Amino acid sequence: MRRRAPSAPAPEVPEPRRLAAIRAPLLDWYSRERRELPWRRTKDPYAIWLSEVMLQQTQVATVIPYWERFLARFPTVEALAAAPLDEVLAAWRGLGYYSRARNLHRAAQEVVARFDGRLPSSAEALLTLPGFGRYTAGAVASIAFGEHAPLVDGNVARVLSRLFEVEGLPGDRAREARLWALAGALVQGERPGDLNQALMEHGATVCRPESPLCLLCPVRDACLAFRHGRVDELPPAKVRTAPKRLTLALAVWPHEDTLLFARRAEKGLFGGLWELPAAEVEPEALDATAATRLSEALGVRVAAKATLGTVQRQLTHRALTLRLLRVSGRQRPSRAPGFHELRWCTPAQAGELGMSTAMQRALDAALAAGVLGG
Ligand code: ADE
Repeated sequence: MRRRAPSAPAPEVPEPRRLAAIRAPLLDWYSRERRELPWRRTKDPYAIWLSEVMLQQTQVATVIPYWERFLARFPTVEALAAAPLDEVLAAWRGLGYYSRARNLHRAAQEVVARFDGRLPSSAEALLTLPGFGRYTAGAVASIAFGEHAPLVDGNVARVLSRLFEVEGLPGDRAREARLWALAGALVQGERPGDLNQALMEHGATVCRPESPLCLLCPVRDACLAFRHGRVDELPPAKVRTAPKRLTLALAVWPHEDTLLFARRAEKGLFGGLWELPAAEVEPEALDATAATRLSEALGVRVAAKATLGTVQRQLTHRALTLRLLRVSGRQRPSRAPGFHELRWCTPAQAGELGMSTAMQRALDAALAAGVLGG
């Protein structure tokens, strides 16, 4: 008989008494101290789902007005599913990470098609929808439906690393498995949605990365890192890789009172968003080379007429340089090989398109340089 390859041992889980000694004081603390956030006043799974998607990479204070506006504009899963993607992206403008909006939109369409417009209630079923990873599935299943589903985000990982002295660097497989096992054990009690939110809230407000407020901590007595004087060293800091540099040449092509705009294909950075037509170039590329790249993307020959300046934007994983190039060409295109769609728009019309903040800044700079005259 063939022997099975040895699998990693299942992570150990603490004994029930120790789990209870964390759960109860944490839930009491949450009941007393939790922030009054608008999505904590609703039971609507769609509204809760939306909050969790927005909160994944964006701070609470930024999310609140976006969440309110988005719900006013798309009040139900059906309304979101029926809306054109452009409108959804426009409502997301400024939040960044636009793949979240594209997935939300696609998932809403699937919820309508497959689940009669109602979000499924288990993490397992939620995981089959676009954009749902373990975190979002756990958050929606536990908060909106009361399932005993765990979640681990950056805050929860820090809290659990300290409480249980979990070693290893962020991203380490064994560490991740242990954190999920611990979160899974802790959530097997009363009020699973509150327990998950209490862990996140605790990480955001008390068990902070820098200067944690251990004197105010409701679970200090149970915290192994506190007992052993290791709060400052757990979890170890992530080794940060330098953001990649990306230089894009942008075609600023005036015609009467309009400029040419292009919508990117749906995949990748800024996918599905509108822009001044962009092509990647080497950081030191000459204007003529940039014009060649833009000609290829636009499928017609354009010439560089003037450099209008550059706009720098720092994204999480990219240092973006946008080089604005006024161009012109004999043939004005209405479609192009490198883009999903082209449109000639006035600045006011462009304001209605879904554009990233970076692109909006670039457009402002082009207009300030007087490309459309006075
Ligand atoms: N971060 C993301 N979702 C959260 C929630 N529901 N409560 C607290 N912090 C969060």
